[in-house]
Order: sequence, then C-alpha cells, then structure tokens
Amino acid sequence: MSDDLLEIATRAAAASAQFLVDGWARRTVVSTKSSQTDVVTQMDRGSEDLLVETILAARPDDAILGEEGGSREGTSGVRWVIDPLDGTVNYLYGFPVWAVSVAVLVDEIPVVGVVHAPSLDSVWRGVAGEFAEINGRSLHASDCATTEQALVATGFGYEAQERARQGSIVADLLPRVRDIRRAGAAAVAMCFVAQGVFDAYFEGGTHLWDRAAATVICGEAGVRVGGPTGGPSRDSMTVAANAALYGPLCRLLEEVGVTP
Ligand code: IPD
Repeated sequence: MSDDLLEIATRAAAASAQFLVDGWARRTVVSTKSSQTDVVTQMDRGSEDLLVETILAARPDDAILGEEGGSREGTSGVRWVIDPLDGTVNYLYGFPVWAVSVAVLVDEIPVVGVVHAPSLDSVWRGVAGEFAEINGRSLHASDCATTEQALVATGFGYEAQERARQGSIVADLLPRVRDIRRAGAAAVAMCFVAQGVFDAYFEGGTHLWDRAAATVICGEAGVRVGGPTGGPSRDSMTVAANAALYGPLCRLLEEVGVTP
C-alpha cells in the first residue's frame, strides 16, 4: 500500500510544483491570515485545489487536511496532510526556498512524505520503516554531536509579539552555536537536516502541514523529530537533530528560554 501512496504523493506534489513554477509571474497576494505578513497568494489556493483533485481522483475515500482549507473527512483511515506552498513569502519574492509538501497518514501514523522544491531541483521522499532519499539518492543526517559546532536552522511566526520573543531566543543562542539559518520554509529546513545541510532545526508555531512530510523523511535519515522535553513534536515546538545532538540541543534551548 505504501508504494501506491508514495506514487500518488509524488505525482501530486510534482503537478503542483509545476503549477507553481508555471504561474510564478502571475502571483499576487489575495489575503492575509494571522497577520499582515502572513500572506496567501492565489497560487497557494490553486496549488491546493490541484493537490486535492489529484489525490481524490486516485483515492476518493481518503481524508485531507490542507493549509488553505481544502480539508475533508474520509472513510478509509488514510489522511493526507498537505502544504500546497511552504515558504509562501520566499515564493512571492523569488527566493528559491519553497516547496510543496505532501504527507500520508494511515490510522494517524505518518507513513509517506514527499517534499518537492522545484527551484532547488530537489525532491525529498521517505517511507516509514523503509527509506529516505533525495532525487533517488539515500539521505543521511550529519554526525555533529556538539551544539557549539552545530549549524542550527529555525523559523519565525507571523505575529509581531511572538517574533520579538523568538528574536531574543536567537540572540542568546547565536553565540553558542556555529551559526543560525532561517530558510523560510519549514519543510525544506527539516529536509536539509535529513540531508546533513543543517545539523539541527527548531521552531515554535508550525502546523502539522508544515512538518508532517518532512518528519517521515527525517525519521528514515537518522534524524529524531520531537518536542524539547521528549514526546512527539507539537505546534508549540518542534526540534529535529541526529540522536547524539538532540539531547544537548534541547538542554541548550531550555537554557535560552525555549518552552515546550
Ligand atoms: C511558513 C514557513 C516558514 C515558517 C513558518 C511557516 P508558509 O509556512 O514554513 O519558514 O517559519 O512557521 O508557517 O506560511 O510559508 O506555508
């Protein structure tokens, strides 16, 4: 069953990625969500419509949770968690770090993840218990085990007050790690950890559609994804790092004021 789901997820993500590439010149902001900086373009909506159409054509009884509201109940026990355009602000400005993210959950357990970033020429895919790959090549996390040597990615929410808090955490963290990166697309940042491009990632305020697909890919690449005090990741905080770095990073995050 995973093979079929992977094939559909790959095809759906590719079709939406192509739609976004083809329509880039026509992108315009059509509304905002949590704040004036949290924009939605007509391309986010078009990409989600296309994802939903592609998925339901193959799997009409499945449930879907989509960032732009294209959600529906299902009867099969399979749920698709989709982000039609992760990194919307990057896309808007032509900064190439953006992706279509498609995860498949069976009985609420994530089993398949596809993150397709056309401007980076990258398709990350993973099947739980089987493999993680980028463009068909096996993925492996870095072996960095010390926070001082770690290149740590993070992200920021869209609300001013929350950003001020996140900024002060980064100010305290920056002198204690190799450096900080803000990719602007949570799914890509997590796949970069799976690929060893970043050593670790943490962010508060993401949603399941930002991280579900990348969590499968990370898991098969030797990356632990969870909360800062153990357990699964939550919207309030996600940490991703290889097994040796995960504990020291969580301790450091606590010291600089990250809360679960
Ligand atoms: C956002 C991006 C960003 C992250 C935010 C997400 P969107 O998703 O992934 O990097 O910092 O938390 O909301 O709005 O571009 O789909």
